Amino acid sequence: MSEHLTSDKHERLLIIDFGSQVTKLIARRVRESGVYCEVHPFNRISDAFLEEFAPKAVILSGGPNSVTGAESPRIPDRVFDLDVPILGICYGQQAMCDQLGGSVAQGLEREFGRADIEIVKDNALFDDIGKAGSTHRVWMSHGDRVDQIPDGFEVIAKSANAPYAAVADIARNYYAVQFHPEVAHTPIGAQLLRNFTHQIAGLKGDWTMATFKEEAIASIRKQVGDGKVICGLSGGVDSSVVAVLLNEAIGDQLTCVFVDTGMMRKNEAEEVVSLFSKHYKINLVHLEAEDEFLGLLEGVADPEKKRKIIGKTFIELFEKEAKKIGGAKFLAQGTLYPDVIESVSFDGGPSVTIKSHHNVGGLPERMNMELVEPLRELFKDEVRELGRELGLHPDFVERHPFPGPGLAIRCPGAVSKDKLDLLREADAVYLDQIRKHNLYNEIWQAFAVILPVQTVGVMGDERTYEHVLALRAVTSSDGMTADYYPYSHDFLGETATRIINEVRGVNRVVYDITSKPPGTIEWE
Ligand code: XMP
Repeated sequence: MSEHLTSDKHERLLIIDFGSQVTKLIARRVRESGVYCEVHPFNRISDAFLEEFAPKAVILSGGPNSVTGAESPRIPDRVFDLDVPILGICYGQQAMCDQLGGSVAQGLEREFGRADIEIVKDNALFDDIGKAGSTHRVWMSHGDRVDQIPDGFEVIAKSANAPYAAVADIARNYYAVQFHPEVAHTPIGAQLLRNFTHQIAGLKGDWTMATFKEEAIASIRKQVGDGKVICGLSGGVDSSVVAVLLNEAIGDQLTCVFVDTGMMRKNEAEEVVSLFSKHYKINLVHLEAEDEFLGLLEGVADPEKKRKIIGKTFIELFEKEAKKIGGAKFLAQGTLYPDVIESVSFDGGPSVTIKSHHNVGGLPERMNMELVEPLRELFKDEVRELGRELGLHPDFVERHPFPGPGLAIRCPGAVSKDKLDLLREADAVYLDQIRKHNLYNEIWQAFAVILPVQTVGVMGDERTYEHVLALRAVTSSDGMTADYYPYSHDFLGETATRIINEVRGVNRVVYDITSKPPGTIEWE
């Protein structure tokens, strides 16, 4: 049985996952309109779970399978006994129609990308979107399609390729769409989902960060009792929010450990230490470990080896510190909801390791500690909202993500103190430019990479032979996919000139215009 995460006080919506790449986006859209929801895989939903979770509405996600296949994923029958509104999306539509007595044909024509639907019947699903006869851009991605709708259903929108683009059984409050309302390419999608949750299911939208904060504090106090909690603080938004939240919940029972690996950005360590120990008066252990990390990384060029060394060393140092504090029973971590969804997905989560991400994974087992994960229910932008609710300084709330291995993975090849110092300076000038041009909050993440290449240049009358610096900036909603940020040429030119003038050791600057996929955000 899937275990649900929170809160009996809120109205809850259940998203049943059939394996679509974009299921998480359904949850994002639903949460954005103030409705608490959770994603659970179709094959982990027992009758007991449904009874306990007691959803006020259900959304069925898309998925890669064909309902015409022998072992195709099914909607648990009990879902139809709940007597709550249901919305099927793509595979969810097909499974719903198939199971309720309609039929699905294997697609002769696959349909991917933009399409136009025409509303053929006024319906609450289209409130503030359009009336019968209006057309709207949507995003389709399907092979199969419904070719006969079940008794009780009627067509409310059609498209050239999908006669059943949207169908409804109004008496039972069952709705189903062939297109994907959750993606940004369906401009009417957010409103459509809101219409489903608020108009059709009558949900109030009672999920706010203010109530979340109070509940999280109460639940931390309940879990921890008078035990001690230790928390790794990196200065990133997730661990910062965890620390401030825990501080508010349990004060002195919390100790944070900040490990200065020598691979932080310029002034990062001072800023973190000053905010958390001076301003918040949190017990903070500041561990200077630059020599240790750089010693172990000397001559190591392979990205995975670098990551592993950093991860292992971090764990060892952290463990040592925890022992010194004595008797911490709990370890606090900034695990977010996307990680939770991934780890419970029915096909066992991500199948290939692109990069071994370093966090404090491995620690709880080694140290026999119980986890405190107060952000498990939240998406990144909700974490930021919680940070604001807690009064965390905007510089920390809005901070771009920063990877655990730090500048080591922005220094392809072997790292050295000289290269890291140079990178720190160049990165600081780059970020200063971004802030001056008011671009920081438009960008998901921006950083410089020092390349293991030197090129010939000319400065004054002198020949130079120095490093190339690559600049990276991406937009993204969750780091899973990303687009490069389209700076103006003026901005790029000005930034390159400043870096070359102000940072000794760089004589060429390039801009990385790769999206993810096929690139990743970091270079290693
Ligand atoms: P990639 O490079 O995989 O990065 O596209 C996606 C996001 O994850 C961050 N990242 C990390 N974060 N430990 C972290 O805590 C890591 O080892 C790590 N590697 C990458 C990256 O900065 C981006 O935001």
